[in-house]
Order: sequence, then structure tokens, then C-alpha cells
Amino acid sequence: MNSLRAVAIALCCIVVVLGGLPFSSNAQLDPSFYRNTCPNVSSIVREVIRSVSKKDPRMLASLVRLHFHDCFVQGCDASVLLNKTDTVVSEQDAFPNRNSLRGLDVVNQIKTAVEKACPNTVSCADILALSAELSSTLADGPDWKVPLGRRDGLTANQLLANQNLPAPFNTTDQLKAAFAAQGLDTTDLVALSGAHTFGRAHCSLFVSRLYNFSGTGSPDPTLNTTYLQQLRTICPNGGPGTNLTNFDPTTPDKFDKNYYSNLQVKKGLLQSDQELFSTSGSDTISIVNKFATDQKAFFESFRAAMIKMGNIGVLTGNQGEIRKQCNFVNSKSAELGLINVASADSSEEGMVSSM
Ligand code: HEM
Ligand SMILES: *[C@@H]1O[C@H](CO)[C@@H](O)[C@H](O)[C@H]1NC(C)=O
Ligand SMILES: *[C@@H]1O[C@H](CO)[C@@H](O)[C@H](O)[C@H]1NC(C)=O
Ligand SMILES: *[C@@H]1O[C@H](CO)[C@@H](O)[C@H](O)[C@H]1NC(C)=O
Ligand SMILES: *[C@@H]1O[C@H](CO)[C@@H](O)[C@H](O)[C@H]1NC(C)=O
Ligand SMILES: *[C@@H]1O[C@H](CO)[C@@H](O)[C@H](O)[C@H]1NC(C)=O
Ligand SMILES: *[C@@H]1O[C@H](CO)[C@@H](O)[C@H](O)[C@H]1NC(C)=O
Repeated sequence: MNSLRAVAIALCCIVVVLGGLPFSSNAQLDPSFYRNTCPNVSSIVREVIRSVSKKDPRMLASLVRLHFHDCFVQGCDASVLLNKTDTVVSEQDAFPNRNSLRGLDVVNQIKTAVEKACPNTVSCADILALSAELSSTLADGPDWKVPLGRRDGLTANQLLANQNLPAPFNTTDQLKAAFAAQGLDTTDLVALSGAHTFGRAHCSLFVSRLYNFSGTGSPDPTLNTTYLQQLRTICPNGGPGTNLTNFDPTTPDKFDKNYYSNLQVKKGLLQSDQELFSTSGSDTISIVNKFATDQKAFFESFRAAMIKMGNIGVLTGNQGEIRKQCNFVNSKSAELGLINVASADSSEEGMVSSM
């Protein structure tokens, strides 16, 4: 065991001397990051998601959203997964997340399966990025080689979650600004909004469009009147707003270009969705029209934008840590007795037995 450790340390030093890249702060992510340390990680993640989504197809959408809500708040560092503690003000309680974030339990299930095969190796932030891609493919959406090598952060920021995550009432210009702040352009905004091709939303987030839009006494004029009647049945005036409805009334659980053809017939669910097509003179309109007729173009732009988003503010090298339990930083997990010291020390045994 000691000689194995010595070899490992020597290899590390050679990598540092030769490249330096994996340990420098602006290191690049790499799709083959776990080739030697956890070659089967993608299959392990896929298997858990596949099995959960058979009973709960919506989970595929929920996992894509989780990666987005991670990346827009101090980068893709799994900060969204940190639970409230005496030192953490959880992002899970921020307005865009409260009562709507899903999949935290599934991420823990995935992490447990991954830890079993490759202890102390795969970050929670990488699990979120992999889960987003695998969820897209399991819903017949695009696949891509997920750049990996993120490390998990030691902090969360609820204030930033409230500030950075866009609201469904934002104008197109505000959405553009929120995305630009993350290094994402207008094409990225339109492509990533296409994730609203699956999943559900609560009535409370669009009911303002159905009865008395902006105090006009009338519904949102950019809402299809047939669709309006359907939405009113699901979301009664003055109701609690807790009912759910599909983002895509045509193919609710499939990842396809119908989000864009829906916008063309005024069937965008959120105000922020419909505006991409209905804001007169907006440069988003031609992009919507393109994606509505050319699914390959949409998938290509979605791939590129997801990789771009997945690179936001990542921690690499020796920054942060590899969390053992995704809901807590390791020092807290140890304090809570969630880290079993014996199992945390068995990484070599685990590596040998999995070969
Ligand atoms: C452009 C600005 C965006 C706004 C204003 C927005 C807003 C929302 C809102 C209000 C919901 C419904 C939440 C609920 O009722 O519980 C939602 C759900 C969802 N969002 Fe977005 N979103 C945006 C962009 C994105 C992006 C970039 C992605 C991913 C790439 C995404 C993926 C999803 C998915 C998949 C769901 C459904 C989740 C589920 O069913 O659990 N959204 N979004
Ligand atoms: C990889 O993981 C999958 C899913 O858990 C499993 O079915 C398969 O046997 C694994 N392959 C190897 C080589 O461990
Ligand atoms: C973390 O919080 C979520 C709810 O936000 C809860 O479902 C989960 O059980 C918590 N995790 C742990 C390990 O306590
Ligand atoms: C989006 O809307 C919310 C409330 O509706 C507002 O507080 C926020 O400033 C807007 N975002 C941007 C980028 O303007
Ligand atoms: C619509 O909202 C405005 C402002 O909130 C209010 O003054 C008006 O009475 C409402 N109209 C109806 C028909 O409820
Ligand atoms: C939505 O919720 C209301 C109560 O607010 C309920 O009466 C109604 O049946 C629900 N509609 C659907 C379609 O679930
Ligand atoms: C509203 O939707 C129907 C299909 O349900 C469609 O035929 C019609 O053209 C749409 N109206 C507008 C203004 O887009």
C-alpha cells in the first residue's frame, strides 16, 4: 500500500512538473478526466437516472434545471446542493429554488453509487454536469462530451441565487443582461431557454398572465386564447398557485424543438418564454424561427451553450474539495458523523477491487 501511495505521489509530481495544468487555477476541464480513476462514472450515473426516470419522467427536466441553478450562482461548484447549517445559508431557500428545486435526493443516490465504485474521486459538481447531459439524452435530446474535473466549493450564496437566477417576469433585455453577466450571449439564452421543452411549472409563476396582466384587467395579449382557456382550467383565479402544468403542451417529456414552434403560436408558458418571440424588433425572434424549423441547429446550439454554461466559474486542481456527501462540506460531514473514517480511507482497496 505504501509503495502504491509513493507511485501515486511520484505520478502527481511528474504531472505538475510536465503540465501544471490540472493543478493551476485556470485549468481546463476535460471529458476524459476520470479515465483512469473512475472510467465507468457515466454509466453509473446514467443507470440511476434511467431507473428513477422510468417512474418519474419529469426528473430528467429537474436534473437539467439543477445544473443551471448551480452554475449561475458562483459557478458550477455544487453550491446549490449545500443544505442549511449553522454556517451555510442554503441556496435551496432562495426564491427561484424554494418549493421548486427537485432531484436533490436523486443526486445523493447517484453520489452513493459513484462513491461505491470510486471513493473520494468524483465531485458533486461533475455529477450535476453529467446528470444534465444524460437527462437530455434519456429524453431524446442532444448528447455531448461533458468536460469534467470540477471541484466542489466550500460555500453557498443565497443572496447571489436571488440576484443571478432570472425571473419569469423579466423582460428579454433583463434576461440578456442576466445571461451576459455569466458570459452567455443571445443565442445561448434562446438555446438554453429551449430546456423548457420538458418539465413542469407551478401556476403561481404564470397566473399573472391569465386574468389581470399588469393591472390591465385582461390576460396577456401574447397568450394564445385556446391555450389561455386550458391554463385557466388548471390555474383558477385566486387559487393557491400550487398546481403544475407542462411547459410543452405538445410533447411534455420529450426534449425536442417544439418549445420554439409553441412560441410561434403564442403558447409559451412563462412571460419570459413568450417574450423571446413576441418582443417586437428583438434579435431573439429570428433565432426562435430558426430553431423552430431546424432541430439540428437547436441541438447544436444547445450543446455548445451547455458546455459554455458548465464552464462558468469552475474550481479545479486543488481548489475546493471532493465532497463525500453532496449536502455538506467534508468538515461538516465529519462533524455530523456522515463520513465513516474507515470507508474514507479505503480508496486504494476500492480501486484495486474495481479493476
Ligand atoms: C431564461 C430564463 C429562465 C427563467 C426565467 C426560468 C424560469 C423557470 C421557472 C419559473 C420554472 C418553473 C419552476 C417551478 O414552477 O417549480 C422553470 C423550470 C424549469 N427550467 Fe427554467 N428558467 C430559465 C432558464 C432555464 C435554463 C437556462 C434551463 C436549463 C438549461 C432551464 C431549465 C428548466 C427546466 C428543465 C424546468 C422544469 C423543471 C422541473 O420540471 O422540475 N431553465 N424555469
Ligand atoms: C458500469 O456501470 C454499469 C451501471 O452501473 C454496470 O451495469 C456495468 O457493469 C459497469 N461496468 C463496469 C466495467 O464496471
Ligand atoms: C438536505 O436538505 C434536503 C431538503 O432541502 C433534504 O431532503 C435532505 O434530506 C437533506 N440532506 C441531508 C443529508 O440531511
Ligand atoms: C428580473 O425581475 C426581478 C423581479 O421581477 C427583478 O428583481 C430583477 O432585477 C430582474 N432582473 C434583471 C436582470 O433585471
Ligand atoms: C386588475 O388589477 C388592477 C391593479 O392591480 C386593479 O386596479 C383592477 O381592479 C384589476 N382588474 C380586475 C378586473 O380585477
Ligand atoms: C388546480 O387546483 C384547484 C384548487 O386551487 C383545483 O380545484 C383544480 O381541480 C386543480 N386543477 C387541476 C387541473 O389540477
Ligand atoms: C392558437 O393555437 C391554435 C392551435 O391550438 C392555432 O391554430 C392558432 O393559430 C393559434 N393562434 C395564434 C394567434 O397563434
